[in-house]
Amino acid sequence: MRLVIAIDGPAASGKGTLSQKIAAHYGLKHLDTGLSYRAVAKALLDKGLTLDDEDIAAQTAKAVDLGAMKREELAVHAIGEAASKIAVMPRVRQALVEKQREFASLAGGAVLDGRDIGTVVCPDAPVKLYVSASPEVRAKRRFHEILARGNEADEAQILADIKVRDERDMGRSDSPLKPAKDAHLLDTSKMTIEAAFEAAKNIIDVVA
Ligand code: C5P
Repeated sequence: MRLVIAIDGPAASGKGTLSQKIAAHYGLKHLDTGLSYRAVAKALLDKGLTLDDEDIAAQTAKAVDLGAMKREELAVHAIGEAASKIAVMPRVRQALVEKQREFASLAGGAVLDGRDIGTVVCPDAPVKLYVSASPEVRAKRRFHEILARGNEADEAQILADIKVRDERDMGRSDSPLKPAKDAHLLDTSKMTIEAAFEAAKNIIDVVA
């Protein structure tokens, strides 16, 4: 069986770190699909183009090379914000989902994380996880991450931004963030990353 693992959840839920650990443990390739939306947003911002034109954004999405995305240059707050704006556009999603499905069809299986992997990109994935944590816990984690990198941060502002992003991602009409019907829910509010990884492994090992 090709092991495709679909991992969804809101911003700063810990799904990225968890996905990397799972991919390493099972020897699978990993795609952070958020980076593809960020790559579109960055390309538009770099060229000084509007984020409001679906034609331009969809053309830009078609040109994204999943293999060339660099996490370091895409992990900027403003790019995440812009990404969630262009992610509401159906034709942007269509172009990126096509590329993501190709990645998911890799011979050895794959781990994909994002917002719509279990519901839209890989609805037949044998393992689906929905990783969540309260907005307050997610804001605190992000706050400490930023401090650990030696930068300054405002926890209340981070919490406010997380709530806006959740609303946009959960409220859009095309592929809103929600757990697939057959997803395993993993609330990591009170878990360390190690505990979340153990819980995920217990779920995956039943199928793998
Ligand atoms: O996960 P990350 O913060 O990098 O995602 C940036 C934005 O891209 C999200 O807020 C969301 O709007 C969008 N996204 C999406 N579908 C995905 C992955 C990300 O709509 N599968």
